[in-house]
Amino acid sequence: MGEKKQKPIVLTGMQPTSAIHLGNYLGALKNWVAIQGEADCLFFVSDMHAITVPQDPNQLRKNSIDCTAAYLACGLDPGNSHIFIQSQIIGHAELAWILGCLAPLGQLERMTQFKDKASRQTGEFVGAGLLYYPALMAADILLYNAHLVPVGEDQRQHLELTRDLAEKFNGIYGPLFNVPEPLIRGGCARVMSLQNPTAKMSKSDPNSLATVFLSDTDDQIMKKFRSAVTDSGAEIRASDEKPGIQNLLNILSGVCGKSIPELEANYAGVGYGKFKTTVAEAVIGCVRPIRERMETLKKDSQYLWDVLENGRMEAQARANALMAKVYGRIGFVRRADL
Ligand code: TYM
Repeated sequence: MGEKKQKPIVLTGMQPTSAIHLGNYLGALKNWVAIQGEADCLFFVSDMHAITVPQDPNQLRKNSIDCTAAYLACGLDPGNSHIFIQSQIIGHAELAWILGCLAPLGQLERMTQFKDKASRQTGEFVGAGLLYYPALMAADILLYNAHLVPVGEDQRQHLELTRDLAEKFNGIYGPLFNVPEPLIRGGCARVMSLQNPTAKMSKSDPNSLATVFLSDTDDQIMKKFRSAVTDSGAEIRASDEKPGIQNLLNILSGVCGKSIPELEANYAGVGYGKFKTTVAEAVIGCVRPIRERMETLKKDSQYLWDVLENGRMEAQARANALMAKVYGRIGFVRRADL
């Protein structure tokens, strides 16, 4: 009798800070949807990461539910995947503490995202949570013994630390954790700002024209693309000297599925203005149905609650099974509830 091949465990999440943007969708969520059938998937809302910078409590709670609605509207299927909220599971913080004790301080201090976010906290204190963030992220992943972590390019460094911590733990306490692989796919792994195409598209960009949100209206999307910053040339070509056009080509390719060379050939000789409108129309065609599904789902709070409660029960059972092993390895006294 052949052994039944186990599906790989896939885990990933997103912070519920404001609405989800096009970079989150094309760089991450779209790939999560694609992998669902082939893997044992856990998708969560990382509200514990969100509080590493100040949040309004009511807004954070609302954003967590809206983020769940966005996951479903983009195509995550609760019949196939487990969807839950990080702070509802006992285990993330506990394992983060243990992994944090193994994480070299220098490595945490060298994290690009820490340096970047800490430098933006001008006039406010920099919370230790910002430094500790990658240990929590490692815990999220290792708590479910994930094999694959689909993310955008900006999370690569955090994944490297996760791999280091898994190996270090296994080396000290004996093999327990899978060493997870990042899954970073395609030209949209780093979608850039529409106003500064050398910086990544981000939720916290102060320029409201820089970021396209999945909640944007058709008119807002059109306006943002029409005012996208490009170079002074006239050629529709992907090149590092033309970061604005390259970004628009990547976005169009991510939305319509055609390759960059194919798009370059299709739009040869087309002016920038016309090209921006074309990209906007393609993005509107992709975002509109998601936005409409999101609005419908947000009205059905009982359904969202049921999805999250099913996800919570499954995630907690798995977290308990793993933490029982961790307690044993570390030398903590057995917990009767695990
Ligand atoms: P977050 O919330 O910043 O982003 C969610 C996902 O979107 C990707 N992403 C992008 N992809 C392409 N272009 C962009 N401009 C862009 N901006 C964001 C991110 O790479 C990410 O995949 N730390 C994580 C959340 C997290 C997590 C985890 C992820 C917490 N624990 C465990 C994986 C596994 C974060 O802040 O993502």
